[in-house]
Amino acid sequence: MSEEVLLPEPELGEREAESSLRPRTLEEFVGQSDLKEHLSIVLEAAAGRSEPVGHLLLCGPPGLGKTTLAHVVAHEMGASIRQTSGPALERAGDLAAILTNLEDSDVLFVDETHRLPRVVEEVLYPAMEDGQLDLVIGKGPSAHTIRLDLPRFTLVGATTRAGLITGPLRSRFELIERLDLYPASDLERIVTRSAAILQVELDAGGAQEIARRARGTPRIANRLLRRVRDYAQVRAQGIIDRAVARRALEVFRVDERGLDKVDAAILDALVRRFRGGPVGLSTLAVAVGEETDTLEDVYEPYLMQIGFLARTPRGRVATPDAFAHLGVEPPPPEPNLFGAGGRGG
Ligand SMILES: Nc1ncnc2c1ncn2[C@@H]1O[C@H](COP(=O)(O)OP(=O)(O)OP(=O)(O)O)[C@@H](O)[C@H]1O
Ligand SMILES: [Mg+2]
Repeated sequence: MSEEVLLPEPELGEREAESSLRPRTLEEFVGQSDLKEHLSIVLEAAAGRSEPVGHLLLCGPPGLGKTTLAHVVAHEMGASIRQTSGPALERAGDLAAILTNLEDSDVLFVDETHRLPRVVEEVLYPAMEDGQLDLVIGKGPSAHTIRLDLPRFTLVGATTRAGLITGPLRSRFELIERLDLYPASDLERIVTRSAAILQVELDAGGAQEIARRARGTPRIANRLLRRVRDYAQVRAQGIIDRAVARRALEVFRVDERGLDKVDAAILDALVRRFRGGPVGLSTLAVAVGEETDTLEDVYEPYLMQIGFLARTPRGRVATPDAFAHLGVEPPPPEPNLFGAGGRGG
């Protein structure tokens, strides 16, 4: 039960809960100020030319607002959004059907863009570049290709694994933006806004307690807020202050720093099994049963943000704070590396 609170994947039934909290406009979207500025410039410029915005790729860990931004872009363009995802498009024809049904200036949102099959990706190239679709009609010797002009559209791709987007696809995006983990101050604003929408009373202290444990992630912040709200409703007259938030988060066994199961496994391996490292990324990945890309793109950013993990040329190392968090005595300082007989590589 308790671990589920922190799983990065959306829970069942969370989708509805999330959509009510989703910012609709760029103005409501909290934080990510560079990205917002870029978007507001391209949106305004495109509107001035009465064109759709150029294709946009959003990269970043789960729950940081990629889907939200795709909807915001459509909303700001006054356009409709068609939503699909890499794994849902199995054959070239699946994408062709969607493309031919677009209306002028629609936004086509492709979630998990890194999971597009290659044959589908190849249909996307001319569509993104020249607004054209090559259709193969018939089979065998009589097969021939016809070329269709597509309506103008904006492709918004989202991926948690930017490194897996192929070069040709990446090069066809006009704007590639990375979402960063949110600082606690942004998460406080997000939960405060969410509390207002959910009509729960949350004070600044309560917001701080929730934000600190939200793993830099708005989705987790909102999820923790809902848990705390439940607790407050049945145990504390519905009002969330610092003490109520603390007690609630203790009841749900949310780690003081918001570490989830995988974060905790990574730290445990680094600190206990590898005595603080340095340890290579692939060795660490095997130790916790995750892929190297997932470790790099999804888990390490948070552990680095809170100063528990560092990347060094020799591998990943745990910091003294990480040892302290686990209550493990750090190993004595490294022997002098410049002395004779230093450790070989
Ligand atoms: N900048 C923000 N301001 C306010 N709320 C936000 C912001 N970013 C995200 N959220 C909230 O977090 C929830 C999750 O965001 P979203 O679904 O857009 O994440 P995502 O990046 O698409 O995640 P995934 O990779 O899992 O698909 C949203 O429903 C929204 O309520
Ligand atoms: Mg999403």
